[in-house]
Amino acid sequence: MAVEPAASATATAVATAAARPAQKPVQGAFSGAALRADFPAFDTPTHLGKRLVYLDAAASAPKPRAVIDALADTYAHHYANVHRGIYELSEDATGRFEAARRKVAGFIGAPSAREVVFVRNATEAINLVAYSWGRTNVGRGDHILSTQLEHHANIVPWQQLAREVGATLDYVEITDDGRLDMDDLRRKLEARPKLVAVSQVSNALGTISPVAEVVELAHAVGALVLVDGAQSAPHMPVDVTALGCDFFALSGHKMLGPSGIGALWGRRELLDGMPPFMTGGSMIIKVTLDGAEWNEVPYKFEAGTPAIAEAIGLGAAIDYLEALGMDRVREHERYLVEHAWAALGEIPGVWRLGPADPELHAGVISLVLEGIHPHDVATVFDHEGIAVRAGHHCAQPVMLRYDIPATTRASFYVYNDLDDIAALTDAVRSCQQLFNA
Ligand code: ALA
Repeated sequence: MAVEPAASATATAVATAAARPAQKPVQGAFSGAALRADFPAFDTPTHLGKRLVYLDAAASAPKPRAVIDALADTYAHHYANVHRGIYELSEDATGRFEAARRKVAGFIGAPSAREVVFVRNATEAINLVAYSWGRTNVGRGDHILSTQLEHHANIVPWQQLAREVGATLDYVEITDDGRLDMDDLRRKLEARPKLVAVSQVSNALGTISPVAEVVELAHAVGALVLVDGAQSAPHMPVDVTALGCDFFALSGHKMLGPSGIGALWGRRELLDGMPPFMTGGSMIIKVTLDGAEWNEVPYKFEAGTPAIAEAIGLGAAIDYLEALGMDRVREHERYLVEHAWAALGEIPGVWRLGPADPELHAGVISLVLEGIHPHDVATVFDHEGIAVRAGHHCAQPVMLRYDIPATTRASFYVYNDLDDIAALTDAVRSCQQLFNA
């Protein structure tokens, strides 16, 4: 199979793995089976001795060896605090940490690495904006607009902000097939919100929302747009400049990187005008007993020692994904979703949520098996070696919209293939037999 030109040692390792002869014809953009060899998690059988079928990337993705090695190498040979030491080891660590920031910027099409703030995850990125930009720019009587499709991380910070400052918060409704209702968006923009907070991909349903269109409509009424990219950045090409959004949040652990590291991108003039979210070491230029002057962005928002090795590990994850090519990552998942959607549709008693059109559906399928609680489904799946998430997926308003307590969610990534989908459909049938459903 063809792979993008390898640009680094990591990329060369990926290209070699991706080019490894597959046991079966390639399914999708690459051989998931060949890529599984890059992920040590797949070396270990599950607790019942079954092959691990990992369908929970939307919660957190396994790590390729290149990322694990980058973490271990940093801690072993390149670790010291960053931006503080006048010695070679610290300068080495600082250089690697800042190189990772540049990789994040390049990965999402940010005009400058100075606009990339390292945070713990997308949740922290959104909270940073809600506290720092929100408390400064949203006041009594102002409006904020979110959507019914959001993860709690893109709802609760806005609820708190609205309560504290006396603003109102409204939500764009969703259609029966889990898309944003664009007519409702247009109606609700008439209230001239200060900010529209929208996810690019729904973690609960997999819906890909037309974010560029949302941005255009929102900007036309003077609203800024924050995009929750936690489920899009890992799975499709993202270009914040082309999207035209104002803030973009991502989590490293969902894109093959370490946990505890994520990023907020914001337009420079917005970040420059925002007060710090947290205060302390490193985010200042000068401190006296009477006050302090803030450092420049992005450091103004990075109080305390950051997650140094984790940021470098995120850079390694980006190398890995870029060697595969994000267009092809998306193509691969589109192929898997199309097959899974069709195969699950052939099984009576299975309710699939979200858009049927694979162009509008990222690598997430939420299911309800009639008469069987999703937690029971997930338990039966676990006995087959299949890892899925069952529950409300931190998106209770989505569950309320469909009047269900929970779903069983299968989410795909580069290492999945049609064998995994066959295992999923077999497990659905086994589960139905077990419960006589
Ligand atoms: N936000 C993560 C999920 O959707 C945890 O599962």
